[in-house]
Amino acid sequence: MNLPTLLATMPKAELHIHIEGSLEPELIFQLAQRNGVALPYASVEELRRAYAFTNLQSFLDIYYAGASVLLREQDFHDMAWAYLQKAAADHVIRTEIFFDPQTHTARGVSMETVIRGLSRACKDAKKLGVDAELILCFLRHLSEEDAFATLEQALPFREHFIGVGLDSSELGHPPEKFARVFAKCRAEGLHLVAHAGEEGPPAYVWSALDVLKVERIDHGVQSAKDPALMKRLADERIPLTVCPLSNLKLCVFPDLQQHNLRELLEAGLCATVNSDDPAYFGGYMNDNFLQTAAAIGLDRQHAYQLARNSFEGSFAEPSAKARYI
Ligand code: HPA
Ligand code: ZN
Repeated sequence: MNLPTLLATMPKAELHIHIEGSLEPELIFQLAQRNGVALPYASVEELRRAYAFTNLQSFLDIYYAGASVLLREQDFHDMAWAYLQKAAADHVIRTEIFFDPQTHTARGVSMETVIRGLSRACKDAKKLGVDAELILCFLRHLSEEDAFATLEQALPFREHFIGVGLDSSELGHPPEKFARVFAKCRAEGLHLVAHAGEEGPPAYVWSALDVLKVERIDHGVQSAKDPALMKRLADERIPLTVCPLSNLKLCVFPDLQQHNLRELLEAGLCATVNSDDPAYFGGYMNDNFLQTAAAIGLDRQHAYQLARNSFEGSFAEPSAKARYI
């Protein structure tokens, strides 16, 4: 079997996907029409042309605008179902899906609407052979108080999500800002992850680990600037959910050839490949694997390691993990 076929067909887990970032322009227009929402773009093509980003914030502005078409439980279900079909086609058998409730509750959509729609799609995913779970993300540009209020609204639906994360604008919003809310989530028995070291410094990765006590780092590519941090990540096998096409589109690396995924793997880190916001960044899981492998010269050993790392880094039950690995 050649390497592209191996990469495409190997069973894998996706650990870093924002469900709102899987909303394709066609579905944005379909939902806008269904819900009578006016869009500031005349066509799918015009919307797609706006997807020219210079950094994280330039993307987030468009990403939050796109999510404005989501109003009803069925909308959240349909968005997640479209993603899950793509995941299944890419041989993703386990996925841990981020969602941003504050993007929706701020527009008057209830937490129940969001969670019930997404959760129903995750249950239906069994039919596709995909084991899907949800991770609630707090928006870090908002206050800790807002995050606490969001957690209160979500706790009645505790059985529908397995963990919490931290996303949105990283620079100027260090992990410390959310120390108390993460401590509460930990006491609730939730898994903890956080975006850190995407655009932000290695210091944010250290504090995500030491202050928030996260089990995984989302992105984390800036860790390579700090040898002591790299040693810790390798020694403790702390997973990094790396998103190569996202890094390319948000100009974290000038081109894919200069991506540091190989360096992370060869330093013994539990690095994984993920799609982040596939509708915005030009590809789902296998697009990320195939384009990155071609650009940085991955071999079969790297491919196996990435598949193993994805299951090792997942929050699947130990018995299921043992079966996957
Ligand atoms: N970084 C931070 N916040 C996000 C991202 C990301 O890559 N995608 C969606 N929200
Ligand atoms: Zn992300």
